[in-house]
Amino acid sequence: MEYNIPLFQLNFGEEEIKAVVDTIRSKWISTGPKCDELEKQFIDMLQVNFAVSLSNCTDALHLACIVCGIQPDDEVICPSLTFAASVNCIKYVGAKPVFCDIVGPEHININPAEIEKLITKKTKAIVVVHMAGFPARMDEIMAIAKKHNLKVIEDACHGPLSEYKGKKLGTIGDVGCFSFFSNKNISTGEGGMLITNNEEMANKARLLRSHGMTTMSYQRAGGHATSYDIVELGYNFRLDDIRASIAVEQMKKLQKDLEKRILVRERYIEQLSKIDGVIVPFADNNEFVSNYIMPIVLTNSTNEIRDLIREKMHAAGIQTSVHYPAIHNFSIYKEYYAVLPQTEYVTNNEITIPMYAVLSNSQIDFIVETLNNAING
Ligand SMILES: Cc1ncc(COP(=O)(O)O)c(C=O)c1O
Repeated sequence: MEYNIPLFQLNFGEEEIKAVVDTIRSKWISTGPKCDELEKQFIDMLQVNFAVSLSNCTDALHLACIVCGIQPDDEVICPSLTFAASVNCIKYVGAKPVFCDIVGPEHININPAEIEKLITKKTKAIVVVHMAGFPARMDEIMAIAKKHNLKVIEDACHGPLSEYKGKKLGTIGDVGCFSFFSNKNISTGEGGMLITNNEEMANKARLLRSHGMTTMSYQRAGGHATSYDIVELGYNFRLDDIRASIAVEQMKKLQKDLEKRILVRERYIEQLSKIDGVIVPFADNNEFVSNYIMPIVLTNSTNEIRDLIREKMHAAGIQTSVHYPAIHNFSIYKEYYAVLPQTEYVTNNEITIPMYAVLSNSQIDFIVETLNNAING
């Protein structure tokens, strides 16, 4: 079905098309100058020391776990209300995910007070996810990490350029990870970035993204090196220059795109405040954020009621989604049982409504009116 109002719209134009054509014409399409340019953009725009382009964020999270020194049998505290990749990365390195509850429907990020209770001698790190691009309570999380000597991995997939007390998300913990999947704020189809202020971690990530080889094809083609050694068991996690060239154009548009999303969110909040039965997570956040998605949580609701409301929105031509089905309920994570009442409520009663920069006021009003009729009609 073609929705009248989809969940997301690509912000693509002639710039992206030209960038791809130019890259193809340059005859260098794998990891090369465009990946370098993109990494420099990240370094400048996020005010961070190092950026390593990768084939997706799942790889970034995987490498983050490795460079943070997470070993088999270590424990890593993480939210369950996230996408599978934020937890799968812990399993890739043989460690144990320890699920932590979120604060509640008003703040759907990991709860620092609950993190403290889960720390054991085996705890090595915390994976923080900034849902919808809204910052987790990083001051408290970093204080806990410091006290217990834990590494912090920020899954900042939803929050490029989002800020927490003036700092960019992804730059506060040890490592930050970003995605360029099609529906993300920076879209290239697939793609990702790992950022860090730690040189050793950056070097290791760079080495492991390309088979543990000491030089890459691009350097050899440029005459900077003629041979290579393999010094670690690495992977092929490289981004290619075709996608990087799209990302470079997307980065140039990002600030303006996010500014427009802020206006969309303001209109939503104004309209949603007039209807009963809805909580807007992070409604009190006044910082610059990406507004990657627009989550709402129904009050006094159930999973069945939520699904009925989504069906009514669907019938009206409005696409919705759920962020997210909680990870601890998936078959492969059943063994990591955890009692997470806030996560359970939100996973059963959250609806993600359309969010993109060119969503018009009349479309927003129609979405909220349809939602109101579905809930209260
Ligand atoms: C919170 C979160 N983490 C990780 C990922 C994985 O990103 P990628 O698809 O680039 O591997 C996503 C993407 O959907 C995500 O939303």
